[in-house]
Amino acid sequence: MNGQPASRLRTLPLGRGAGAPLFAARVVAITSGKGGVGKSNVTAGLAMTLASQGQRVVVMDANFGLSNLDILLGLSPKYTLEHVLRGEKVLEEILLEGPMGVQILPASSGIQELTRLDTLTELRLVQGLQRVAETVDWLLIDTAAGIHESVLKLLLAAQEVLLVATPEPTSLVDAYAMVKVLHLREPSKPVWLLVNNGQSAEECRETIDQLQEATERFLGKRLQVLGMVPHDPHVLQAVRQQRGVVDLYPGSPAARALGAAVKQLLGQGSLRYDDFASFWKVPAPGDAP
Ligand SMILES: Nc1ncnc2c1ncn2[C@@H]1O[C@H](COP(=O)(O)OP(=O)(O)O)[C@@H](O)[C@H]1O
Ligand SMILES: [Mg+2]
Repeated sequence: MNGQPASRLRTLPLGRGAGAPLFAARVVAITSGKGGVGKSNVTAGLAMTLASQGQRVVVMDANFGLSNLDILLGLSPKYTLEHVLRGEKVLEEILLEGPMGVQILPASSGIQELTRLDTLTELRLVQGLQRVAETVDWLLIDTAAGIHESVLKLLLAAQEVLLVATPEPTSLVDAYAMVKVLHLREPSKPVWLLVNNGQSAEECRETIDQLQEATERFLGKRLQVLGMVPHDPHVLQAVRQQRGVVDLYPGSPAARALGAAVKQLLGQGSLRYDDFASFWKVPAPGDAP
C-alpha cells in the first residue's frame, strides 16, 4: 500500500465547516451574476497564489460552451471534460499541469451545458471530482455566469461559494439575484464576496455595502468579504501574453490584492478596508506595463 487510505484523508482538518464533507479538499465554486467581471482571472490568480504557498490546487473550468481558462493560461489541452462526459476518459486523465504547479481540468468550447447530463454521467463526474479532491488541498470551480440550473448544481455541490462582482450597477443587481437564488436553495451556504476591477477603493466599498445591506435586509444573510481588487492594466497585459498576473507581475496591485484575498481565505488574520485600499495607492514596482 502506498499513501494514506482515503478514509484517513477525509478526516484531515482542512479548514472545512461542520458536517460530513463530501470532498476532502476545500471546494470553492466561483460565480458571478453577469459575465465579464473577471471571474476566470480571479480564479486563476487565487489558484496560483495558493500554489505559491505550497497548497495543492486543482481548477475545474466549468464554463461549458464558453471555456477559456486554458486559453487564459496558454495551455493546449488534448483532452477536456467533454471526453469525460462522453465516458472516453476519466478525470485524472485530463488533468493538465498549469503555471506554478496549478492543475487544470479543462473544458472545451462548444459542449452542451451540464443541464443535459443524465444521472449516470452526473454521478460519474461527481465521483471523479471526489477522487481528484482527495489528492489536493483545493478544488476551485470556475463556473459560467448567470443563474442556470447547471451552475446552481455546482454551487450547491461546493462547500463555499465565491461571488465576484464589479462596481457596475448591472453587476450589483445580478450578483444580488445570484445570492438570492442560492439562498433559497441552501440558506446556510457560506458565500464570500470579492469586488474586482474597481477604479477606486471607495467604489468597491460602496458595492460591498450595498450588496451586504440588500442580502441582510431581504435574505437575512451576511456575505463574508474576501477582498477588493483594483482595476489594473497588468491584468490585461497578462491576458494578452496568456499568463496569469500573479505569475507574470507578482508585484502588481492586482496580484497583491489577490494575495491579500488568499490570506482571508486561509484565515490568516482578518484584513480591513484600509489594507485593501492601500493596493490602489502603490505604484507597481518595476514591472509596470
Ligand atoms: N482587476 C482587473 N483589472 C483590469 N482588467 C481586468 C481585471 N479583472 C478582469 N479584467 C479584464 O476583464 C476581462 C474579463 O475577465 P474574465 O476573467 O475573463 O471575466 P469572466 O470570467 O467573469 O467572464 C478580461 O479581459 C480581463 O483582462
Ligand atoms: Mg470566465
